[in-house]
Amino acid sequence: MNLREVVRQRKLLLQNGVLEKLASLPAAQALEVLLEAEKKAEESRQIVITLETIDGVLSEKNQGKKIAQAPVEVETQDAAQAQAQAAAETPSAPMKILSFKKYDCDGTVEDFVSHFRNRFAKLSSMLKNRVSAANGVTSIEQAKSSVERRKSRIIGMVENKSITKKGNLRFEIEDETGVMTCVAQQNKPAMEKAQELWLDDVVGVDGIYSQGLFLVENVVWPEVPVRQKKLAQTDEDVSIAFLSDLHVGSKYFLEDRFEKALGFFNGVGTEEEKEIAKSIRYVLIAGDMVDGIGVYPSQEKQLVTKNVFEQYSLLAQYLKKIPGRMQIAICPGNHDAVRDAEPQPPLPSEFVQELEQDNIHFIPNPCWLEIMGLKILVYHGTSFDALVSNTQKLGDAFEHPEKVAVEMLRRRHLCPTYGEKPIIPSPEDGMVIEEAPDIFHFGHVHKNASFDYNGTVIINSGAWQGETDYQKSMGRKPTPCLMPVYNLRTGVLKILDFNEESEGQKRGKA
Ligand SMILES: [Fe+2]
Ligand SMILES: [Fe+2]
Repeated sequence: MNLREVVRQRKLLLQNGVLEKLASLPAAQALEVLLEAEKKAEESRQIVITLETIDGVLSEKNQGKKIAQAPVEVETQDAAQAQAQAAAETPSAPMKILSFKKYDCDGTVEDFVSHFRNRFAKLSSMLKNRVSAANGVTSIEQAKSSVERRKSRIIGMVENKSITKKGNLRFEIEDETGVMTCVAQQNKPAMEKAQELWLDDVVGVDGIYSQGLFLVENVVWPEVPVRQKKLAQTDEDVSIAFLSDLHVGSKYFLEDRFEKALGFFNGVGTEEEKEIAKSIRYVLIAGDMVDGIGVYPSQEKQLVTKNVFEQYSLLAQYLKKIPGRMQIAICPGNHDAVRDAEPQPPLPSEFVQELEQDNIHFIPNPCWLEIMGLKILVYHGTSFDALVSNTQKLGDAFEHPEKVAVEMLRRRHLCPTYGEKPIIPSPEDGMVIEEAPDIFHFGHVHKNASFDYNGTVIINSGAWQGETDYQKSMGRKPTPCLMPVYNLRTGVLKILDFNEESEGQKRGKA
């Protein structure tokens, strides 16, 4: 059995470069190292075997430590043969999957405590980096014991929020040293900002401590810094196509239009469309691949394919038509066959084995990718519904989903308020937006949107499902079959409309 078969059989996810590294070793040793790395990844809750893990195993081996005996049979092949094979498997368009960790826990009190501590540590350090030297941060304990009416900035997690009889906004924030009751007075500029606070937000609050209360003058969120939009350093046009919310199996899945998009990927269309298709090397799909079963009451009435395995089998038939030169990354959504609680693991092999091929990568939700030097955050967007209900200014969010993405980037968190949507309270909070993404891709809302926020390109890739009865009853208008294609060299985003047949597509059919 060669290395590639072992990887496939054991359903291992490897970081780019791992196979090449292993191929430079004698075949039997490569397999031993791979299996030891699998064990280590499992122990450290990584879902992807990284180069770092491989290096760790190799260094232990060099120090003479014992490596577990490989429990599978191997056909030996020499290093040159393995190297040639790995080279042939190296994708022409490298895409690094940067999210490796497994987010699991036992749901104990300790897990919750570590989860929130971890979130607080990450977000408060971002806030501290934003603070100007003239306005240093003090702990809540220090602020309480400082000179009366001295100005300070405290950082904490928002716990309670209510309007007082006088119309002021009162909230509590907590850090490692204590709890502070804060008051934003009505008709003062800080009131507007304080109204935007969400429970569990980690924020900086400027104000004055007086007679047991912190009188709020300003509120700051961790924010993504203002940057120039990052472009790929390349002489040729390289593009990413964005998809989400196919909902295969639903009676509203717009199969004929999706087939048109598949034709486009394969060069059917006008000269301009052909040029765009030629530039596409990556296809990112942000979840809700199928409609699923039992996702909401009486869903079976909305399904044409009532078996979830058949839904994924149909999906495979479609996605296999995307040319092999394109790297495809697929994350799950709330309709897919994985646990609801986020972060969600990649789609399990039992559902998608028909799609196990070199250019298709199953990634967790959310997931960080790196493509040509750009950091891309892919998230299905399930928290959207809960977040919208939190803020008045998001009243039109179903028309403008980019506004919710902006709020996530401001708060540096994909689902700030715990308990609104199921989140795994793992010791590390996997929903923190750890760095400023160059591209933030999401779906779930079935409404296309794009926006440049502080240098992050926000893209919602709409849906391939038509208007459902539920959407109709809620007065929400989806925008199906509009595919965003982003040119990484020029930074130009084109939205291709597959609702109408272009002249080129008509010719392609003839
Ligand atoms: Fe969806
Ligand atoms: Fe969804």
